[in-house]
Amino acid sequence: MIAFQQTEEQPMVDGERAFREGGAGPSGLQAGYAPAPESSAAGDPALSPAIDKPILEIEKLSLWYGKKLALKEISLEIPAKQITAFIGPSGCGKSTFLRCINRLNDLIDDVTITGRILFEKGDIHDPSVEINALRKRIGMVFQKSNPFPKSIYENVAYGCRIQGIHKRSLLDEIVERSLRGAAIWDEVKDRLDESALGMSGGQQQRLCIARAIAVEPEVILLDEPCSALDPIATAKIEELMEDLKKDYTLVIVTHNMQQASRVSDYTAFLYMGELIEYGLTRQLFLNPMKKQTEDYITGRFG
Ligand SMILES: Nc1ncnc2c1ncn2[C@@H]1O[C@H](COP(=O)(O)OP(=O)(O)OP(=O)(O)O)[C@@H](O)[C@H]1O
Ligand SMILES: [Mg+2]
Repeated sequence: MIAFQQTEEQPMVDGERAFREGGAGPSGLQAGYAPAPESSAAGDPALSPAIDKPILEIEKLSLWYGKKLALKEISLEIPAKQITAFIGPSGCGKSTFLRCINRLNDLIDDVTITGRILFEKGDIHDPSVEINALRKRIGMVFQKSNPFPKSIYENVAYGCRIQGIHKRSLLDEIVERSLRGAAIWDEVKDRLDESALGMSGGQQQRLCIARAIAVEPEVILLDEPCSALDPIATAKIEELMEDLKKDYTLVIVTHNMQQASRVSDYTAFLYMGELIEYGLTRQLFLNPMKKQTEDYITGRFG
């Protein structure tokens, strides 16, 4: 967790006020906001820092749905075993970006992608890449928890069975380890054979995280994992993310400024398909370099 400190010499900037006061939501929206044209972060090292140990390197990634440009030449590096948050107004391309990383957009008709995504130096679009193998290494958790209509046990064991693991003792071990890893073992250990659909929303979301980690990915993509959860369930997931980063690289999309500032190490701000600013979370929230970033995190536009 990053600790924020304020010295007396530094006046509190709006970004920090938003951070300390809990961020600004859509309530701060101003009608008619027209941001001044600014160049995007791509290619500007001050706005898109070099990362020490990048696990993912995105180079000039553009994506079109038909003729509509949804991502525009996005370049950035994502650090290993850290939490990187993507923020930005609805429709700016956050989910589209996340889906590019494990090639989920391949499933959508009429999508054109240009640029490169390197995962541990290998191009994920290389013809030799086997999609299922890629998705095993880069797992995803969605906004709406989506357990299968199966038992809690089978939900977690599912990915392993697909990979050909059938030995019961090994599956038992994986299921327990994954449920413990997702901080839900104690709540479900006596009802593993019950349907996952009988769990609460927060439990289902942690089950989906357990299902994602069962196959031992390297990266976990989380698209607004807490947006349907109450503050207690949200706090549990945030605590869990903090724990998971010891072993995994996490990339999270969130609309919640407090959440981005609480849990992430790096934050990227997207606006209308462009990467506007990317940097250490502390820096981006306390001292944003772009007016657009400051306006967004202080709620001047949503
Ligand atoms: N399958 C699709 N076909 C066509 N256009 C799409 C598709 N998915 C997304 N888009 C468009 O691409 C743009 C980016 O959408 P995306 O879902 O990535 O935004 P987002 O930042 O995740 O928004 P939100 O915060 O509302 O989830 C939007 O204009 C959206 O309408
Ligand atoms: Mg989205």
